[in-house]
Amino acid sequence: MLDNKGFDLWADGYDKAVNISDEENRYPFAGYKNVLSEIYRKVLEKNTPSVLDIGFGTGILTAKLYEQGCKIYGQDFSAKMLEIASKKMEQAQFYQGDFSHGLVKPLRKYTYDFIIATYSLHHLTDKEKISFLKELKELLKADGMIIVGDIAFETRIELEKCRIEAGREWDDTEVYFVVDELKKELPGLMFERTSYCAGILYLEH
Ligand SMILES: C[S@@+](CC[C@H](N)C(=O)[O-])C[C@H]1O[C@@H](n2cnc3c(N)ncnc32)[C@H](O)[C@@H]1O
Repeated sequence: MLDNKGFDLWADGYDKAVNISDEENRYPFAGYKNVLSEIYRKVLEKNTPSVLDIGFGTGILTAKLYEQGCKIYGQDFSAKMLEIASKKMEQAQFYQGDFSHGLVKPLRKYTYDFIIATYSLHHLTDKEKISFLKELKELLKADGMIIVGDIAFETRIELEKCRIEAGREWDDTEVYFVVDELKKELPGLMFERTSYCAGILYLEH
């Protein structure tokens, strides 16, 4: 599992690496652009919403939302990612902080129309995911929504199939979403599959 320094090193080549994996329909990023486009479309159903991005990275998605007038907030633990994203979005409120310890204090004082997290929360264990998503849910506006786009599966059988196909590429240090298993703790969780290894999870207030 990469730590914040690991992500600092990956930051410059990140966009290119993701594109190659997606275009070749290969794990881990097969379906990446579909995930981001669908979240972009969903968020812009509201007029200039506030959006909190958890693990915003180079800001591929949030920069597009920012251009459309969304008010952008975010947390990421990589100083380099923060530097790259901040250059694209000067008015955004970005904070450096490890989300395995929850949300940084300044971001806890707002409520949000959307809280999004793309390809970031698989760095948490399932227990940590559940507790963090419950914490985030409290910060949604009345009609707000959490949208998670990630490597995700409806069932463990689907995950295992993907693991076998990915072979040595499979990253055992990451903990992917298995929706059926998380639903017990997060009953309102909805899922939309976007590729054999990716999907979007929705959680309403
Ligand atoms: C694979 S990148 C995804 C970036 C972006 N959301 C996207 O969809 O392209 C994962 C991001 O999550 C951040 N991240 C991973 N673990 C984190 C943690 N424990 N706390 C804060 N940020 C973390 C990394 O620094 C990185 O920017």
